[in-house]
Amino acid sequence: MLPSLLISLIFATLTGGENPAIQVILNNKGLQYGKNVGAGWIQDNLKRVTLPDISGKISIGFLGSVGYTLTGVSVKQCDFPEPSVQFQEDISGFKSSISGLSVALTGGWRTHYGLIHDGGSFDLAVFDVDVTSTAKLGEDADGHLSISSVNCSADVGDIKMRFRGGASAIIQFFVDNFRGYIVGEMERHICPAVNQYIDAFEHHLQAMNVSFPVDPFLGIDLSLTNLPSVDASSLTLGLKGDFYQIKSHAGPPFKAGPFTLPKQPGFMMSVGFSEFTLNSASYVYFSAGLFSRLVNDSVIPPSSPFHLNTSSFGPYIPQLPKLFPDLLMSLQVYAREMPVFSLQPGLIRLGLLGSIKAFAIQPNATLTPLFKLNVDSKFSGKTWISDGLLKGSVEMDNLTLTLVSSEVGPFQVSKLAHGFDIPRMKHAQLVNTVLKVEEVCIHLSESLSLCLPLSVLHIYLMLFCFFFF
Ligand SMILES: *[C@@H]1O[C@H](CO)[C@@H](O)[C@H](O)[C@H]1NC(C)=O
Ligand SMILES: *[C@@H]1O[C@H](CO)[C@@H](O)[C@H](O)[C@H]1NC(C)=O
Ligand SMILES: *[C@@H]1O[C@H](CO)[C@@H](O)[C@H](O)[C@H]1NC(C)=O
Ligand SMILES: *[C@@H]1O[C@H](CO)[C@@H](O)[C@H](O)[C@H]1NC(C)=O
Ligand SMILES: *[C@@H]1O[C@H](CO)[C@@H](O)[C@H](O)[C@H]1NC(C)=O
Ligand SMILES: *[C@@H]1O[C@H](CO)[C@@H](O)[C@H](O)[C@H]1NC(C)=O
Repeated sequence: MLPSLLISLIFATLTGGENPAIQVILNNKGLQYGKNVGAGWIQDNLKRVTLPDISGKISIGFLGSVGYTLTGVSVKQCDFPEPSVQFQEDISGFKSSISGLSVALTGGWRTHYGLIHDGGSFDLAVFDVDVTSTAKLGEDADGHLSISSVNCSADVGDIKMRFRGGASAIIQFFVDNFRGYIVGEMERHICPAVNQYIDAFEHHLQAMNVSFPVDPFLGIDLSLTNLPSVDASSLTLGLKGDFYQIKSHAGPPFKAGPFTLPKQPGFMMSVGFSEFTLNSASYVYFSAGLFSRLVNDSVIPPSSPFHLNTSSFGPYIPQLPKLFPDLLMSLQVYAREMPVFSLQPGLIRLGLLGSIKAFAIQPNATLTPLFKLNVDSKFSGKTWISDGLLKGSVEMDNLTLTLVSSEVGPFQVSKLAHGFDIPRMKHAQLVNTVLKVEEVCIHLSESLSLCLPLSVLHIYLMLFCFFFF
């Protein structure tokens, strides 16, 4: 236990200066939007609130103390002015305040003084409540965002209480004469209640997972890399953003480079990814051997004029159907090196160094090796948002086919390259128009688009398949 704790502490200090691979900026516009949603929610829910019973004792000079209980207290009416929330640079947090809040409450009262029990109902109006609270953001040892109260002040303008039933006249007398005391008691309770809310929020933050499984194989670590940074108009969070193998929790051996996400105050929020995030996924898939597939004729639609058999390859490799007439073929397609993404302004580049080993499937199911090709390609892609959809286009910038070895004698590789002109896909859907929200459409040509779920990994895998099928 202790050694692992020490290791994680050392690790935490060592990684303190780590570059974030994902950055999230919350702008003032987003903060104000959040505030309005929150305030609307509070206003809608306040009327449905029934407060827990409030019990206490009041000592009345020589009479000793009278126990009281306020029960079934509910909000009858609430004048909820617009709260204000702003970034507070000096403490790296927020300052929230509400001023001029008024609430009318109604409920029942009970008192007990020795054996004498009494009760009735009451109305309570609290006027001009001002509350100001500042809270700072931080980071805990596990990379969770944390929040804690810095200071709080509460001021209650005035109260009005009306008691009915029982010996309410006596209570009324007490309330009228000790108004200042009651106001003070209320003020004394507001800030602890506010702090309790902040603590509850902090508990939620601590309980939140900062690592999530993305698929059965891959997880993503979204813990903070450094303290949240707050200036007068925005909050910036730097997240680790690396993919790791779920089984071993091993991430990539390379580190994220620095990148700056430009501030765009016109947006509520900006999220930026560095190429490290994509490349860490690539690394994990590659190192686990997942960029390797055995492809056979079953992936090609029966109606296709081209089939994965030795006769179909005749036009490109004339000797193949002569040496191995009418045999089905299979291809082992794999990445030779980790596919690498690089992000440039407005452009995503992807380099794929792949190989294909071709086999003839003998009638007794033995695989006879035919040839091995290296297939090196470069893609560039663009993404943009229009009509609320994230869209993208991908172009193949360069394709180099090299014959590495051949068991069937030499052949013209350039001829074979034509076979790749029309990508054949079974697992991808070809459509003419852009599809639903949260899909990425990759335009293969003027009329064909490939639409995929919005997941970087899927784009990634599909690019891979797109190329090889
Ligand atoms: C609360 O803390 C903030 C930041 O330190 C400070 O500016 C403000 O004056 C404090 N307010 C009170 C009521 O102490
Ligand atoms: C956090 O992760 C653990 C283990 O992966 C899981 O059991 C738990 O349900 C997750 N909690 C939340 C709130 O997602
Ligand atoms: C083709 O591959 C599929 C799955 O990859 C497999 O189920 C099938 O048996 C293979 N067919 C041949 C003829 O090898
Ligand atoms: C090979 O593919 C061609 C189409 O290219 C098809 O006409 C032929 O039937 C296939 N042969 C075998 C053995 O599958
Ligand atoms: C399968 O067939 C091939 C070609 O006919 C032959 O060379 C090979 O020895 C056979 N393998 C087995 C295990 O029968
Ligand atoms: C394509 O890649 C090869 C090998 O990397 C290179 O020699 C060639 O110049 C590239 N062609 C283009 C058009 O970029």
